[in-house]
Amino acid sequence: KSAVIFDTDPGQDDAVAILTALASPELEVIGISTVAGNIPLKLTTKNALKLVELAGRTEVPVYPGCDRPLGRALVTAEHVHGETGLDGPDLPEPVTQPQALHGADFIIETVRQREPGTVTLMTLGPLTNVALAFAKAPDIVKRLKGLVMMGGGCFEGGNITPAAEFNVYVDPEAAAMVFASGVGVTVLSLDVTHQMLSTRERIEAFRALGNKAGEAVAAMLSFSERFDVAKYGSSGAPLHDPCVTGYVLDPSIFEGRDVNVEVETGSRLTRGMTVCDYWGVTDRPKNAFWVRSADSDRFFGLLTERIGRLP
Ligand code: BDR
Ligand code: CA
Repeated sequence: KSAVIFDTDPGQDDAVAILTALASPELEVIGISTVAGNIPLKLTTKNALKLVELAGRTEVPVYPGCDRPLGRALVTAEHVHGETGLDGPDLPEPVTQPQALHGADFIIETVRQREPGTVTLMTLGPLTNVALAFAKAPDIVKRLKGLVMMGGGCFEGGNITPAAEFNVYVDPEAAAMVFASGVGVTVLSLDVTHQMLSTRERIEAFRALGNKAGEAVAAMLSFSERFDVAKYGSSGAPLHDPCVTGYVLDPSIFEGRDVNVEVETGSRLTRGMTVCDYWGVTDRPKNAFWVRSADSDRFFGLLTERIGRLP
């Protein structure tokens, strides 16, 4: 089994990413650290607990992490995800409690305890917890197998400003630290997530599974779609964070190349822009694998099959 840690701010799309992983026998989800992002930390933590309960996997611990970016005021996205962050399905209030350990310390302790080269960090939100963990314990960077993140954009521009994608925009200093850290980063950016459209048909396929999880996923995707379809004028909303789980489960669905990525932290206009040297016009060192395209039918097929395994 591949050992993974989720760092996340759920979020309907985070939810689908996590549920898919919890349904996958190839993955050992060691734990989930939560971060402020789509909504404040209290709600991201509560939502993570709702998800482990929905999956019937309450033994997977949830560790609350940073309640704000490293050096900036928190920007949230209730306009996309609703007031709870997980609007759409009617999920019960969780009875499971979060852990006392801070999310960043959970990352540090886990990576130090496990064999080097065996733990993958899967990040679905602002990179605050990860940057804090790397700053406190630089030794863990080289012990990780890698980091697979949803964030950034190059060819597709931004979604919170014209230049920036939300996760990187919220804590650009944290993202800059991660790209500069030397960890092997795989980036699932808007360039690929904008190709993964949750069309009516694909949503109905989740509903038709007939289980609780399938119905919840259909309700979540129908909710976020209200926002994004109007925005993009396409046949369905982009499904962002599940690309991370899809990539870890089956990288053959995706294509990309090694690039240099740096994050803009100084400019007002382009704060949080991921400057990706896709065409190799500089000799800056390659620090990331940038995914550019994917087979969306295979991707949705994989997600649907996995969600179907849940209660
Ligand atoms: C990212 O921002 C959040 O709103 C989503 O959960 C996703 O992680 C997309 O830009
Ligand atoms: Ca997210």
